[in-house]
Amino acid sequence: MPEPTTVAFPPAFLFGAATSAYQIEGAVREDGRTPSIWDTFSHTPGRTAGGETGDIAVDHYHRYRDDVALMAELGLTAYRFSVSWSRVQPTGRGPAVQRGLDFYRRLVDELLARGITPALTLYHWDLPQELEDAGGWPERDTAFRFAEYAQLVGEALGDRVEQWITLNEPWCSAFLGYASGVHAPGRTDPAASLRAAHHLNLGHGLAVSALRAAMPTGNRIAISLNSSVVRPLSQDPADLAAARRIDDLANGVFHGPILHGAYPSSLFEATRSVTDWSYVLDGDVRTINAPLDALGLNYYTPTLVSAASGGARGPRADGHGSSDHSPWPAADDVLFHQTPGDRTEMGWTVDPTGLYDLLMRYTREAPGLPLHITENGAAYDDKPDPDGRVHDPERIAYLHAHLAEARRAIADGADVRGYYLWSLMDNFEWAYGYGKRFGAVYVDYATLERTPKSSARWYGEAARTRVLPP
Ligand code: NOJ
Repeated sequence: MPEPTTVAFPPAFLFGAATSAYQIEGAVREDGRTPSIWDTFSHTPGRTAGGETGDIAVDHYHRYRDDVALMAELGLTAYRFSVSWSRVQPTGRGPAVQRGLDFYRRLVDELLARGITPALTLYHWDLPQELEDAGGWPERDTAFRFAEYAQLVGEALGDRVEQWITLNEPWCSAFLGYASGVHAPGRTDPAASLRAAHHLNLGHGLAVSALRAAMPTGNRIAISLNSSVVRPLSQDPADLAAARRIDDLANGVFHGPILHGAYPSSLFEATRSVTDWSYVLDGDVRTINAPLDALGLNYYTPTLVSAASGGARGPRADGHGSSDHSPWPAADDVLFHQTPGDRTEMGWTVDPTGLYDLLMRYTREAPGLPLHITENGAAYDDKPDPDGRVHDPERIAYLHAHLAEARRAIADGADVRGYYLWSLMDNFEWAYGYGKRFGAVYVDYATLERTPKSSARWYGEAARTRVLPP
C-alpha cells in the first residue's frame, strides 16, 4: 500500500545529487592531469557514440563555483562527487600533485560554506593509464597503488570531508571493463575480469585501512555497489538456479568478501572453467572484510533472467551496452530478459519496487549498517520548450516513485540515511556519450549553459520540506 505523500523523511535524511569526475570535469590536460583509461578509450575510434570524449564534458572544473551555487539554490543538502586519480597522482604512483588536490579542496570548501554535505568517491572508473599499461586491475599491484592514492587524498581532505566512498560500482570496472569491453579499458577476457574483481575488492579493503590511518576517527567510510536485483523469469528450478548464478556474479562476488568475510563457494564452483582463483591469497579476504560505516547502493532497474534451456527465449537484455562478449563469465547458459513496464531512454525498465527489495535485502544481510542510496535516476529525451524551459514529468514520476519506495523501506525498518539523485546535471554517459541525459539540470552542450529542469525544482522542494511534492 503506497503511503500518503505527506509522510515526512527523517530530519537528518540527506537529499543529494551525484556526479563523477570524468563525466563532468573536462580540463583533461590542466594542472598536471595525465590520461586515464577513459581518455584513452574515448579517443579510440568506435568506442563511444559519435566518438565523444570527456575532454570538455560540462566544464565543471572551471564552473564548479556556479554549480555549487546552483545546488544551494535548488536546496540540495548533499553532493556526491569523485576525485580524478590522474589529477592527484598522474602516474598512479609517487607524491600527490598539489594543484590537483587544491581543486577538490576548493570544491569542498565551497560546498561546506553553503551547508552542503560532501560525499567523496575515490574511484569512479578512471584508472591512470600508466597503471593499465602495467596490467590494470587484473594485477595485484593495482590494489596497493589504490590504497596509496586513498591515503594521499585522505591526508589532504580528511579534515573537511566526513563521508568517504572507496569504489563506485566495481562490477562495472571489472566486468564491463575487462569482460564485455564496453567500458575502458575495453578488454574482453573473462579470466582477467574475475582477477580484476578480486583486486578491486582488495584495493577497497586496503584503502579502508589506509583511510582510517590517515583521517580523523569520526569520518565514515563506505563503498557504492550497483547491487543487482536479480529476478528469475519463473519459479522453475532451472530459472531459480540461473538467478542464483547471476546473483553470485553481480552481488556475491563483492558482498561476500566485503560484508560476510568469504566469497560464495558457489561462485568458485560456477567459474571453475574460467579461473582457479589462485590469486586470492591468504589474508586477502580478511583485508577486504574491513568494517565499514555505511553501504552505498546504486539502483536503476532489476535484472530478469532464465535458464537458456527453459522459458521464453528473449533478447540478451542486461542493459549494459552492446558487445559480442558477455559481461557475465561462465554464464553463457543464462538468458537476460527485458522486464515488463515503462522504459527510460536507456531502455531500462522503471521498477521502483526493486529499490525497496534491495534496501530490505541489505537490511537483513548487513544488519546495523546504515544504507545510502548513492545513485538513482533516469535518462529521458529532454528538450527546452520555445521559452527555454525544460519540462521532464517522466523524471519527476520516476523520482517520486523511487523516493516513495525508499520511504516505505524506512518505515519497514531499513536504516536509509540519504538519497543521491543521478545526476545533478546532464553529462558524459560513458560509451553512450552525451546522447543520454540523466541530469536534473539541463546542459546545452553548445553553450554549456545550465537550466534546471522541472524535476530539479520538484526535488529541491522535496529536500526543503522532506515530503514528496505531488
Ligand atoms: C552508474 C554510474 O556510476 C554512473 O557513472 C552512470 O552515469 C550511471 N550509472 C548511469 O548509467
